[in-house]
Amino acid sequence: MEIYAHRGASANYPENTIAAFKEAARLPVFGVEFDVHMTADGELVVIHDESINRTSNGTGYVKDLSLADLKKYDFSSWFSPEFKGETIPTLTEVLDVFHSTEHKLNIELKSDIFPYEGMVEKVLDSIAERKLESRVIISSFDHSAIKTVKQLNPLIETAALFMEVLVHPLDYLNKIPADALHILFPAAIRPSMAEVINSGMPVRTFTVNDETYANVLKQAGIQSIFTDHPEKMNTFFSSFN
Ligand code: G3P
Ligand code: MG
Repeated sequence: MEIYAHRGASANYPENTIAAFKEAARLPVFGVEFDVHMTADGELVVIHDESINRTSNGTGYVKDLSLADLKKYDFSSWFSPEFKGETIPTLTEVLDVFHSTEHKLNIELKSDIFPYEGMVEKVLDSIAERKLESRVIISSFDHSAIKTVKQLNPLIETAALFMEVLVHPLDYLNKIPADALHILFPAAIRPSMAEVINSGMPVRTFTVNDETYANVLKQAGIQSIFTDHPEKMNTFFSSFN
């Protein structure tokens, strides 16, 4: 099973912070997933929500705040008093954490609510500057964004994100086109999805924090999971080898 640390090692560290990514980088897991938004001054930052309300001591939408404004806030103390002083990371800062590791890097573009004009081009520039083309997967619920990725650089692996069960998934995925399917558990194991698994296209499932469910996915032929508990899941699957 290929294990991706979801938002970094987010069960034990504040999600999408350098602390969570340093822990993921330390672990012998296959990859890491993180979410990207764009600031008012066009900088790429790593955060899950459109607003900073839930995961910081500030308020407002990322799209309305400059990077300098955003950097004033604490993105860790909401999680636990044990963590202090984590700021919102830029995409560059996160890529740098994994500079000398071999983790696969799943960059999720969160352009599904606000369009973030020019985001795809900026993400591709960051990847090219660091020569990370073969290590990244770009995914999004905004399938037009991954279509643009493929048009701009066909060498980059893309994945379409879904919450729902699809009736003819392979037709749709090939039409975008997408290289992989990233889908909510348990939609991944409904019978109509088997055509994707059987085709050999990578199917990665989120967010799987329970060993029993992870084993159900393995039995169904799914080879990758996103988990908030990368260390626990790594230990669990190591016992199969
Ligand atoms: O990329 C997999 C997963 O992260 C998608 O859902 O809401 O956790 O970003 P979400
Ligand atoms: Mg995500």
